[in-house]
Amino acid sequence: MKLDRLLAKHRGMGRKQARELIAAGSVHVDGILQDRHDVEVDRFHHVTTNAETVQAGQRRLFIMLHKPVGIVSATKDADHRTVIDLIDDPDKETLHIVGRLDRNTSGLVLLTNDGNWSKPLTHPEHKVPKVYLVETDRPIPPEAVAAFAEGFYFHTEDLTTRPATLEILSERKARLTLHEGRYHQVKRMFHRIGNRVVALHRESIGPVRLPADLPPGGWRFLDAREIEALRPQNPPISGDSLRRILKFPALAPGETSKFPENGDFGLASPR
Ligand code: URA
Repeated sequence: MKLDRLLAKHRGMGRKQARELIAAGSVHVDGILQDRHDVEVDRFHHVTTNAETVQAGQRRLFIMLHKPVGIVSATKDADHRTVIDLIDDPDKETLHIVGRLDRNTSGLVLLTNDGNWSKPLTHPEHKVPKVYLVETDRPIPPEAVAAFAEGFYFHTEDLTTRPATLEILSERKARLTLHEGRYHQVKRMFHRIGNRVVALHRESIGPVRLPADLPPGGWRFLDAREIEALRPQNPPISGDSLRRILKFPALAPGETSKFPENGDFGLASPR
C-alpha cells in the first residue's frame, strides 16, 4: 500500500494529513527519510513519524531446508510432522512453502513469509530449472531421453510438458531437469514410459543448490545473493497457450489413457 494510506490507517488520520506529515520531513521508512507519499510499503517496513514507531515491520524470512523422506510439505498436518516442525525460529508460523515436495520425496525446499518474492516462483509455468535425482524400479530405456525432451501430453490438464533434460546416470538412476512445476510431475512422466519412481530427491532450484553440509532435517537462512538470484528478472509467461502444443490428439469420449495420470505411482508410502 502507499505510504500515506499506511499512515492514515495506523494513525487514524486522513490521507491529506498524512501527506502533510510526509512533506514536512517527519516520516522515515527503514531509517531513511521519505518525502514521497506514493511510495509502496508493506508489513515488512519499519515506519516512524517524528521518531515514533507507526509500524515495527516484520522480519522477512527466506529459508532453505533439506526435507527428509516422511516429512510433509505443509504448514500444518494432523498426522505427520511438517517442514515447519523442523524449523526453530520464533516467526516460523508466518512461513509458507515455495514449491512442495511429496512426502516420500527428499531434498531442497524453500520457505518464506514474503509472498511477493515467492509468487512468481510458485507459478506452474515459472521457468527456473528444478533438478531431481530419480531412482526407478526398472531400467530406464535410452529412448526416454528423447521422450522427456519432447514432452508428454497430460490429458487432465490438457497440456504438454515443457522439454525436460534427462541424464541417465546408471541403469535405474537419472538426473532430471524440469522447467515447470506440475502436480506429481516427475512420477507422472516416468509413469508414461512404464516406469515407477522409487526414490526422488530435489537437488536444486535455479541457482540454489542443496549444500552437501546441510543434513536431512537441517535448514538455514538464504543469503542475500541467493534471495536475489531467485528473483525472476521477467515475469513468467502467462496462460497455457504458448505451451499447449498438442503432440497427441485428445482422447475421444470413452477412450482411456494407456497410463493413468493421477493414479498410483507405485511408491510404498503415501505421497
Ligand atoms: N515431482 C513429483 O512427482 N514429486 C515431487 O515431490 C516433486 C516433483
